[in-house]
Amino acid sequence: MKVVKKIGWVVVIVFVIAQFFGPEKNEGDLTTITAFVNETKPSEEVHKILKEACFDCHSNKTRYPWYSTITPINYWMADHVKVGKKKLNFSKWSEYSLRRKAHKMEELYEEVEKKNMPLDSYTWTHREANLTARQIKLVVDWAKQVESAYEKQKTTK
Ligand code: HEC
Repeated sequence: MKVVKKIGWVVVIVFVIAQFFGPEKNEGDLTTITAFVNETKPSEEVHKILKEACFDCHSNKTRYPWYSTITPINYWMADHVKVGKKKLNFSKWSEYSLRRKAHKMEELYEEVEKKNMPLDSYTWTHREANLTARQIKLVVDWAKQVESAYEKQKTTK
């Protein structure tokens, strides 16, 4: 029993000390997404869906919930954002080539259609990101349209 108590204290102390450490936050400027929005012209509804379900991990600006300050949750989240941004960053849209943009739009509707995105761990805590069939269709239709516009531009270039 004594040992269990000691271990308990060590865990508590380590947890408390760990709170002084945290990853760098993803808190860039939200206006970096404007170029993407202007170019792909999502409807107001699609824009809202992307904002509520995707931008936190796929742009330079994450909206942090209160529990995101708790170590180790913060590291776990930062990892999602880091990997998510590396794969697809709407804040860097203007730096993408035409080919890459078309390809990313294709991946976007595939991932949303298959319900791979947003990540489950995200929809557990962000209920508005749990997309309805109607919302999925809106996003998929929009992304397909944008993709084919990029494909056309590719062939005329
Ligand atoms: C909680 C963070 C998170 C959210 C929210 C999120 N994603 Fe992702 N996304 C990731 C991560 C991490 C990956 C890479 C790992 C993977 O493919 O599972 C990824 C991968 C992707 C990919 C694949 C890109 C590639 O090059 O393979 C697409 C497309 C994508 N996400 C689109 C979306 C869309 C659209 C939304 C909103 C409907 C969304 N994501 C919401 C974290 C997130």
